[in-house]
Amino acid sequence: MTQPLNILIIGLGLIGASFGKAIRHQGLAERSVFVLGYDRSQGVAEQAVALGVLDQAVSDLAWLPKIDVVVMAVPVMAIGTVIDDIRPLLGSLQALTDVGSVKGQVVRTVRERLGTLPACFVPGHPIAGAEQSGVTAAKADLFEHHMHILTPLPESDPAAVQLITQLWQAIGADVVEMSVERHDEVLAATSHLPHLLAFSLVDTLARESENREIFKYAAGGFRDFSRIAASDPTMWHDIFLSNKDATLKVLRRFQADLTILEQAIEHDDGDLLQTVFTRAKSARDQFTQMLAERQKN
Ligand SMILES: NC(=O)c1ccc[n+]([C@@H]2O[C@H](COP(=O)([O-])OP(=O)(O)OC[C@H]3O[C@@H](n4cnc5c(N)ncnc54)[C@H](O)[C@@H]3O)[C@@H](O)[C@H]2O)c1
Repeated sequence: MTQPLNILIIGLGLIGASFGKAIRHQGLAERSVFVLGYDRSQGVAEQAVALGVLDQAVSDLAWLPKIDVVVMAVPVMAIGTVIDDIRPLLGSLQALTDVGSVKGQVVRTVRERLGTLPACFVPGHPIAGAEQSGVTAAKADLFEHHMHILTPLPESDPAAVQLITQLWQAIGADVVEMSVERHDEVLAATSHLPHLLAFSLVDTLARESENREIFKYAAGGFRDFSRIAASDPTMWHDIFLSNKDATLKVLRRFQADLTILEQAIEHDDGDLLQTVFTRAKSARDQFTQMLAERQKN
């Protein structure tokens, strides 16, 4: 009988624990999986077993059975420590992946720590998440109908890419591939900039002396726009510092466009406001349609 595929998840927060729950629930068509997990916070791995996230909690990375796949689900700035911790496992792994929201920094860190990029390494990023964090926020269906971006490297072994693709597809993700650079540019525009704007707007309003009054009258628009400002500050601190160039580039473009709108208001240029808002509405309507189609498939 084929041995189960031993998967070790390092970092049992929202993403790592959701992956564990999902893969234990779905399994792989051709091979059973056995899910082990480690977290630097004491007690989290045991909690993960109780919540159905893992088959086995690991308390010491020096004592492990043979591991086939490692999923690094820690904040981007913790990747270096994890690489140091798993160094003895690397030679026998079939695949090593991560889930970090920034890819360039993760790849640089792995290369710096190891002096090379191992063939088993296939960086990845699930385009799914939530404002909650920690093991108790884990959801088995978090990745269903969501994209998972893999950024295989020239050094990546095609068999490792195939295995990581199979794992994410098994839990309902739509796996796509792109380059590390393209990933960081696209995400700076579609995820990092919106988070920065939400954090900034909520902070500006919250610092007003009558902020209680302002929030009391805030309606759906504020609720929709500000939802992502409840995201984890540490995770976002890591993301902005590690995707500096791409986020600054898109932020500066946005600031220039915002200034144009500011001037249009100042000079009563209704035509310009109408043109920009109509163009934006049409783009948003198209996006809504695209989302609805993705949910149907
Ligand atoms: N939350 C999201 O919406 C989202 C979406 C996509 C990708 N990501 C990425 O996923 C990764 C994890 O995010 P999350 O939301 O699950 O965070 P989280 O805060 O919920 O969990 C992170 C876990 O990692 C553990 N950890 C930290 N350093 C560690 C170390 N050195 N060794 C072992 N464990 C360690 C923490 O104790 C914690 O349990 C981040 O890189 C983030 O960029 C997050």
